[in-house]
Amino acid sequence: PTKIILDCDPGHDDAIALLLAHGNPDIDLVAVTTVMGNQTIDKVTRNALSVARVAGITAVPFAAGCARPLVRHIETAPTIHGESGLDGPVLPEPTLRLDPRHAVDLIIDTIMAHPPGEITLVPTGALTNIALAVRKEPRIAERVREVVLMGGGYHVGNWSATAEFNIVIDPEAAHIVFNEKWPLTMIGLDLTHQALATPAVAARIAAVGTGPARFVGELLEFFAESYKEAQGFEHPPVHDPCAVAYVIDPSVIAVRRTPLDVELTGTLTLGMTVADFRAPAPAGCTTQVAVDLDHEKFWSLIVDALERIGDP
Ligand code: BDR
Ligand code: CA
Repeated sequence: PTKIILDCDPGHDDAIALLLAHGNPDIDLVAVTTVMGNQTIDKVTRNALSVARVAGITAVPFAAGCARPLVRHIETAPTIHGESGLDGPVLPEPTLRLDPRHAVDLIIDTIMAHPPGEITLVPTGALTNIALAVRKEPRIAERVREVVLMGGGYHVGNWSATAEFNIVIDPEAAHIVFNEKWPLTMIGLDLTHQALATPAVAARIAAVGTGPARFVGELLEFFAESYKEAQGFEHPPVHDPCAVAYVIDPSVIAVRRTPLDVELTGTLTLGMTVADFRAPAPAGCTTQVAVDLDHEKFWSLIVDALERIGDP
């Protein structure tokens, strides 16, 4: 199995990413770290621990990270994720205790404690913790296997006309992460807007018939409502588990190698992830973008993970 650190801000789709990472046998979840984003750091951290209880995760360290972006003021997303950051289902009281370390230190310690090329970083929130980690311990840039992140979009935004939420709430952090030498795959909105939770998907999840599957069903119900109201989607795009799915099975997502950078000075384009599709991609280009999703394979991975988790 591939060892991953999930750096997240649960968040409905982050919660599903966590369940997928825990339930899939090809992933070894070695740490979970949280970062402000969908809600404040206290709320998303509590949500992560609640989801751990739902999933029956007991032996993985969870650590809280940054409470605000590197430069900018905090911006949360209650119109999408509600006041708790995970509105919809009843959230059980956490039983897991937080690791006392800051998320940045847990990330560094975990990567440095493993041989080179073993740990994959999977950020599904703002890139604040990851940027600070690589600045504090630059050797992690060569030591990780790769970074597979949910964020950005090369043709579309959701928090502005040109920018995606995870990137635009901390563009300076994203700029650091996108310009490091680690291999980086951007699973952006161009891809995740294909990961729609249709009624057929909801029916497959309901048919699993367990507590965690009902929990996901309730998350998706709330997510469907908010995406309809706030952004006019007929069915909600379930972004974050796409990054985990790509780590599990790269054949789920077609990618294209292309230089990438993050706009920091644009007046209309702050936080835009700019992909240079001019052919040929330069030799030594270490970045790629996700292009096409195998919808059926993707949702089968989620259903399979829920079946394996059962009723913990
Ligand atoms: C991203 O923003 C958050 O609201 C979601 O959890 C996802 O990571 C989508 O733009
Ligand atoms: Ca997220």
